[in-house]
Amino acid sequence: MYTAEQYEELKNLIRKHDYSYYVEDDPTISDLEYDKLFQDLINLEEKYPEIVDPDSPSQRVGIKPVSGFKTYSHKKQILSLSNIFSEEDLQDFFNRIEKRMLGIDDYSFFCEPKMDGAAVSLIYENGILIRGVTRGDGQTGEDVTSNIKTIKSIPQKLIHKKNSKIPEYLEVRGEIYISKKDFEILNKNAAEKEEKIFANPRNAASGSLRQLDPQITNKRPLSFVVHGLGESSNNTFSTLEEFFDLMKLFGLPTSNLNRSVNNISQCSEYYNEILKSRDEIPFDIDGVVYKINQIEYQDKLGEISRSPRWAIAHKFPAEEATTIIDQINFQVGRTGVLTPVARLKPVRVGGVTVSNCTLHNIDELERIDPREGDTVIIRRAGDVIPQIIKVVESKRKKETKSVEIPSKCPACGSLLIQENQSDWEILDAKNKRLKIFSSKIESENFLLEKNDDSLRLNEIKNKAAFIKCSSTFSCPEMIRGNLTHFVSRKAFDIEGLGQEILNTFIKKSYLKDPSDIFLLQNFRKELENLEGFGEKSVSNLIESINESRNVDLSRLIYALGIPEVGEATSRNLANEYRDINKLMHVDFYDLIKVDDLGPKVATNIINFFKNDYINDFLSRLLPHLRINQMELPNKKDMPLLSKQIVLTGKLTQFSRDEIKENLIRLGAKVTSSVSKNTDFIIAGENAGSKLKKANELGIKVLSEEDYLVLKDEPEKII
Ligand code: IVH
Repeated sequence: MYTAEQYEELKNLIRKHDYSYYVEDDPTISDLEYDKLFQDLINLEEKYPEIVDPDSPSQRVGIKPVSGFKTYSHKKQILSLSNIFSEEDLQDFFNRIEKRMLGIDDYSFFCEPKMDGAAVSLIYENGILIRGVTRGDGQTGEDVTSNIKTIKSIPQKLIHKKNSKIPEYLEVRGEIYISKKDFEILNKNAAEKEEKIFANPRNAASGSLRQLDPQITNKRPLSFVVHGLGESSNNTFSTLEEFFDLMKLFGLPTSNLNRSVNNISQCSEYYNEILKSRDEIPFDIDGVVYKINQIEYQDKLGEISRSPRWAIAHKFPAEEATTIIDQINFQVGRTGVLTPVARLKPVRVGGVTVSNCTLHNIDELERIDPREGDTVIIRRAGDVIPQIIKVVESKRKKETKSVEIPSKCPACGSLLIQENQSDWEILDAKNKRLKIFSSKIESENFLLEKNDDSLRLNEIKNKAAFIKCSSTFSCPEMIRGNLTHFVSRKAFDIEGLGQEILNTFIKKSYLKDPSDIFLLQNFRKELENLEGFGEKSVSNLIESINESRNVDLSRLIYALGIPEVGEATSRNLANEYRDINKLMHVDFYDLIKVDDLGPKVATNIINFFKNDYINDFLSRLLPHLRINQMELPNKKDMPLLSKQIVLTGKLTQFSRDEIKENLIRLGAKVTSSVSKNTDFIIAGENAGSKLKKANELGIKVLSEEDYLVLKDEPEKII
């Protein structure tokens, strides 16, 4: 049973969320939660059709435009899509269609990604773009023509090819969006200028499109992709597939992820495939859309209130969720840096349960200002660590206070020091910024290279503030962090030294730094007496420690935990120096010649080996080890030596890592971006911008099959 009051409340709640989403571009709940509320409303109205209020949010799409734009009435209403969330729902969708098709079975499905942006309609008269309108409430939108005209991928004039007659009147619909990469850059720049940070690419796209000043829109990296037809004076196609082919011929951007399929099991396959490659797709999608391919059958199926019967959106698991912060505290990492961590009420997001969320630094803490008890929107996309996107201010309780930055290390009570990282900009004679660097040396090198007196270097202070424990290497949390890193799989890989055991050994003072690990054998008897230990377990532990004494140079370098020296850099350093003593005395200019090693990391390495404490530690550690220097590779075995290769698109026969490893073994350098120095790209299915760039630069493009040849008989390709 429901009460009229509850119905009213539900409608009002949805209206409120509609307003934050569509007008303020500032949602206060996650999409999934919104969809659920909306579904509740639909269910209620379906159960009690007599109560349906013509003003109910279910009776329209979106919200009436309110900003300073002229309004425009769509010739044909822009419909919305119903959502489904499971295979079962998909089967129901199919059954409903079958029932209405009365035995007709020669239809197929057209599958598209569900773009997460802002819907617009573009009107072309005789091939000339004359108007661009937002979806608005589906009936009436905002005339944003001047803004639309700033978007590079939207042709102002349609291309006319031989067999493609351009209709006198053509309304195409599609989505304005911002790619993930462009979004990151946009927000980074906004943060630098202390401007508004957007919650996600969709809000950024929608907000950018609805700027009253087209100059602002012009600066935003907006893209467009077609997903539907409005009105046309001349339809020469009978299926969506033909429609999209035609739009492509006209020069309009269409998605290369679109595919026509024959039945619902192929729809499911499409869903799973796109879901799996979601992270590699360069823009946000929140699901896929299935549509009946034949226009004639679309018309036959028609629509119910706000959505067509011939199309449905199959949503992906949500990447955003709201939850509550229980507590905020500070964690001390192995380099001593304090990281604010929010302890959350556990919530499922991006397929896992999240209960902790770190904030990068103090600036981020100040910018987001999360407080205990706050409701927050968190996001976890792919393998990326969960992030707090924003606080839902309207749900903030009274009398809460911003988190206080500690003045002492929470682990050891030592004083804290603040480190500000600066950026460095290069200015020209007119004070225009030419380039920005994150290290001074890097920018000085740039100036040296340019050798131009009119250029100037300027420090941009306080980019990000970090607070660090001042007790260098004696803080127990730093000791624990260093030890954990030292014994980890990619470093010394010592089995039997898990977190708990490390904690016990630290507490009992058996371990003060990683060199002590190799002295544990002197305390056999004492260890055997510890709770949970016995002769056998101590024996096993000592054995695995002894095995680890035989260590590859690259693992040793990695295990030292030099800031920003990861696995790949360690391998490059080992290859270059082949001797830890050489690396310890290396000079800066030598270092920056090493593959993929910039001035910032070089500075870290130099500073690390300059430190007295480190030198003392190394003099205690090294005598315990037998270091395997790298073997000099035989040039004959490295036919791809110094070739630069980029992998892109979906590779089907081999995993990306597998291919990468093989190529590196053969001497190649596998890089992530295409430049004029790239020798080949290996492009899988649905390759996008990298493939395009490679073609523009005239770089040789190889298929996955070609890769097999390259691997076994490289001379055939090089
Ligand atoms: S077709 C008749 N196709 O989702 C169906 N819409 O809820 C009209 N959207 O307003 C839409 N990707 O902004 C369609 N491949 C796609 C889409 C898509 C994203 C958006 C669009 C629309 C909303 C419908």
